Amino acid sequence: MLMQANSLPTRHFLQLKDFDATAIDYLLARSRLLKARHRRGDVYQPLHGKNLAMIFEKNSTRTRVSFEAGMNQLGGDALFLSARDTQLGRGEPIEDVAEVISRMVDVVMIRTFEQAIVERFAAHSRVPVINGLTDEYHPCQILADIFTYIEQRGSIRGKTVAWIGDSNNVCNTWLQAAKLLDFNMHVSTPPGYEIEPERGESFESMHLECFTDPLDATRGADLVTTDVWTSMGYEEEIEERKKIFADYRVDQEMMALANPDALFMHCLPAHRGEEVEANVIDGPQSVVWDEAENRLHTQKALLEYLLLGQITD
Ligand code: CP
Ligand code: NVA
Repeated sequence: MLMQANSLPTRHFLQLKDFDATAIDYLLARSRLLKARHRRGDVYQPLHGKNLAMIFEKNSTRTRVSFEAGMNQLGGDALFLSARDTQLGRGEPIEDVAEVISRMVDVVMIRTFEQAIVERFAAHSRVPVINGLTDEYHPCQILADIFTYIEQRGSIRGKTVAWIGDSNNVCNTWLQAAKLLDFNMHVSTPPGYEIEPERGESFESMHLECFTDPLDATRGADLVTTDVWTSMGYEEEIEERKKIFADYRVDQEMMALANPDALFMHCLPAHRGEEVEANVIDGPQSVVWDEAENRLHTQKALLEYLLLGQITD
């Protein structure tokens, strides 16, 4: 295994399951501490002199700002690289880009299309690589979502998360989380948009149950969550999907079937009136703003962990 200059192994975060439950529990506890420190206004800059390169092949608000602000708060710097403006946009091989960039910075975050792209990058990188969203997975999002659930309601173990809508990158990552952290997923997608068999981490376990009717999926859930009907990269399907997904809008009827203290989450950006009714996302059960803020705290814990290992102070 490659080692970093400080002799820590070069670990990547390309999928949630790249980390075991112990590492995830550590990150969640560390996020809590870093959040409290940040709230108090403490200055904590262990990454002074370190650089994060952020490569974006798709748009972003939260991922970009949380990584950039987080790196700055930890004393380091972040470089925003749009694929369009770099030689990547003119066809430079990803392997060559990885070889070069990873000799210049200490950690890399990539938002791109196929998961294979981040895997190829990581295979040629001397430094840790973080998946900032691919077509298949969004591990940083689920780290923040689980942190948010625990912050609001305590342990997620044994709880039920209802996913309504498209079986996309965020859904796939929830499935990995369910298996790792031992909770249940109820998934309801329109016919033809079911979970791909290779993503169904828990098809043969207690962790996943699929429902045709979204009302059945939300019944008894502790958390109801959804995402856009059309993810980035699938824009030509927008109009067709609006028709197909029309019955998979999270509304008050669905929320009423969930547990009375159920939360609502959405990774954002949201389309009110499409995948979620405004009175749900803007209602009392919604924690979407905390969820977005927690991207900052959980990713600071992640950056610290990848660059410095486990910290006890
Ligand atoms: N949830 C999320 O990743 O948001 P952005 O696309 O704005 O980064
Ligand atoms: N599933 C969405 C998530 C955006 C943060 C997408 O991939 O576009």
